[in-house]
Amino acid sequence: MNSVKTVLLILLFSSQLFAQGFKFIAMSDSRGRYNGVNDSVLSKIVSNIIETQPEAKFVIFAGDMVDGNRIDPDRTFGELMHWKDVMKPIYDSPNMIWPKIWPVVGNHEIQHRKDEDNFRKAFPNVYANGPADEIGLSYSFDFENTHFTIVNTERWYYGDPNDTTDDRRDWHYIKHLDWLENNLKSARERGIEHIFVISHDMIYPVGGHLRDGLANLGRNFTGEMDSTRTWYMGRRQKVIDILEEYDVSAHICGHEHLYSRQKVNGVYEIIAGSTGAPLYYFNPVYRTDADSHYVGEEMSYAKAIPYYEALDYYHGPGENSQASRNFVGIRAFNYVVFDVQEDYINAKTYGAYPTESSRSEMGTKIELIDEFVIRK
Ligand SMILES: [Fe+2]
Repeated sequence: MNSVKTVLLILLFSSQLFAQGFKFIAMSDSRGRYNGVNDSVLSKIVSNIIETQPEAKFVIFAGDMVDGNRIDPDRTFGELMHWKDVMKPIYDSPNMIWPKIWPVVGNHEIQHRKDEDNFRKAFPNVYANGPADEIGLSYSFDFENTHFTIVNTERWYYGDPNDTTDDRRDWHYIKHLDWLENNLKSARERGIEHIFVISHDMIYPVGGHLRDGLANLGRNFTGEMDSTRTWYMGRRQKVIDILEEYDVSAHICGHEHLYSRQKVNGVYEIIAGSTGAPLYYFNPVYRTDADSHYVGEEMSYAKAIPYYEALDYYHGPGENSQASRNFVGIRAFNYVVFDVQEDYINAKTYGAYPTESSRSEMGTKIELIDEFVIRK
């Protein structure tokens, strides 16, 4: 072996020994009043990322970029184009790498039969490696030692757009569980260190979407498990089993407009749920006036109990009404920076609180609001 080759090999080995890892950002839910987008909050977050996160390699945006529309798919497409304009500093950033933003489809982007095609047209820069009927909506990629699987939870029911009582529109599920499982399995077989699964909908709703999410227990659930609810709960359980079996570091999602993180049976679920969409309140917690319904809460504590029981949530006196006891929930606009290292991931969440009178206006500056470490 000549000396040049030896030097190259030493350089190669030492670069692997001292690998610096990489950073990426997760965020979601920026819909709002101006052309479907909350320009004011989203652009402040984007500026903050550009100023303070020069090492981030890409952004994963977990859905509900825009309001969308049940009647007019062209309007939704126009809103997505406007969203890309607001995100332009990220698309233009020389520090980020292709495609700079990995899009995840949310329910607001999928309200009309033409919307799936429009989403593909709006975001052509993803890998076409998902299930045949979900190209551009479900896909995966590797970056360094880490695998990312983006999976569509918006299997939409295109019902009567004028029937506001039809809650089948809120039904979400992952159609291609086999694809998800095989995708994670093959990542493990090729020796990937970390796996992230990203979708718009959450497994464990923490506020506002207790009746839907992947569990889909529906409105006015009183504890009776009919065949539809059993079907959805079974699908959800299968997702939980897959994430656990392949030792997924975190399931990242949005849909609920707040920040939360919890670890359930070894897998983190992180809701990075608002970069502008109106902030939610958390699930009601134990109280003696169980039937009273407080401002901002989706339902009273009494009405929430059957959901907590079905979802196996802690919900007694002094509990947090969530699936895990290490639950952390913060009602703030937010983004999460993941610093991925060889055998651990450091996560830092930056956020800003709303003004006193509004759910959609930023009232404080953006600062560190949470930090945690995901260990293998
Ligand atoms: Fe959503």
